[in-house]
Amino acid sequence: MAIRDLRVDGQPENKTGIERLRVGVLGMGFMGGTHTQAWQRVKATFNLPIDIEMKALFDMSESSLALNGARYEFERTTQDWREVCEADDIDVVSICTPNFAHLEAAELALSTGKHVWCEKPMATSIADAEAMVALAEAGKPRGLKTILGYNYMKSPTLLAIKKLIEDGVIGDIVHFNGVYTEDFMCDMDMPHSWRLTKAGGGKGALGDMGSHQVSMAIWLCGPIREVASRLQTVHHQRPDMNTGEMKQVETDDQFSAIGTFDSGALFTLHTSWLGQGHKMQLGFEVAGTKGAIRFDQERMGEFQLFEQKDNSDMASNGFKTVLIGPYHPPFGNFCPAPGHHVGFNEMKIIEAGEFCRAILEGNEAYPNFDDGLVFEKALQAIQDASEARAWVTL
Ligand SMILES: NC(=O)c1ccc[n+]([C@@H]2O[C@H](COP(=O)([O-])OP(=O)(O)OC[C@H]3O[C@@H](n4cnc5c(N)ncnc54)[C@H](O)[C@@H]3O)[C@@H](O)[C@H]2O)c1
Repeated sequence: MAIRDLRVDGQPENKTGIERLRVGVLGMGFMGGTHTQAWQRVKATFNLPIDIEMKALFDMSESSLALNGARYEFERTTQDWREVCEADDIDVVSICTPNFAHLEAAELALSTGKHVWCEKPMATSIADAEAMVALAEAGKPRGLKTILGYNYMKSPTLLAIKKLIEDGVIGDIVHFNGVYTEDFMCDMDMPHSWRLTKAGGGKGALGDMGSHQVSMAIWLCGPIREVASRLQTVHHQRPDMNTGEMKQVETDDQFSAIGTFDSGALFTLHTSWLGQGHKMQLGFEVAGTKGAIRFDQERMGEFQLFEQKDNSDMASNGFKTVLIGPYHPPFGNFCPAPGHHVGFNEMKIIEAGEFCRAILEGNEAYPNFDDGLVFEKALQAIQDASEARAWVTL
């Protein structure tokens, strides 16, 4: 599998002749807000040669629609997501609803001729992910594009790290050690939700957070060849949001895995939403034959680089910290001053920029549904290995 580049810089060429993209957003939770803000800022940020029009917003909550429909200046709001997917006056749909709702929405949107920006993880099962790939495949002759919401690989910091790896600065990769912890599920009173059911979330921390970690490992180091793992559910019941009645948790709270990439390089991965004290520790150390790179999303504006050649001066060798700046594209599209940082929502704007570029230039975006299936298969292999207490080969 080729791991494609996703650097976004400069104005895309408009090969389609389209003058505008008319947007429909499904869901106004956490992700719906970030997609909406990204759509509203992407034209100016990347000097796009088209207009972006906020057409329709779906949400289940009437009060959210009243508030956010007006605030974000959508032309209309609806409590029927099908209306958005079927509408004649919409070109692109942002799917920001729970995991179990991705397939149906993508199916309707693609079959009625719309580009789809879908949140991760792509689906709740391999069968659903494969169905989404087939739908996207059928849309390709019509120029329809898909992209998945793996925003962390869009930050200028990660793009800079990817470039260093591609340029051979750390040599051939020897190992990738990833840790991704957040503490938002440590509170025992955290209510039960769709994320904790097989039908709703598919997988637990593995699908929710591990999908970011696994996709990043694959993007940086190549496809995974084999894996052994252990998934764990620590808190087996959570209170219902409305009644307080305790409900069964069906999914994992954390996992640890070891394995190898196709290149032969070794990896370890650990993900947990019971990671006390951590808010967004999506971090890794990737070591090669000539150096190593360390990154932690809690300090997303920097990374550490060690080059073996620095060992010539043993008295002052060691990792150096690189602060991200305008020489790390597309940081300069947001800010001219190095070390002044970009944030979470800027990653979503870069993602929107990548998607618009793909639509306008006729290229595939990364990661599209094809790439998403590769990630889903790796996630499934991690789960299967744990259940079988055996190594799984991909
Ligand atoms: N890329 C990221 O970093 C990131 C971060 C958080 C969530 N996500 C993903 O985004 C998606 C949404 O997560 P969120 O945190 O924004 O969720 P959320 O709970 O904040 O919002 C979900 C929205 O979906 C709507 N909804 C709920 N049930 C529905 C149903 N049965 N059918 C249709 N719509 C329904 C609700 O009205 C709500 O607005 C998930 O797939 C999640 O994994 C991605």
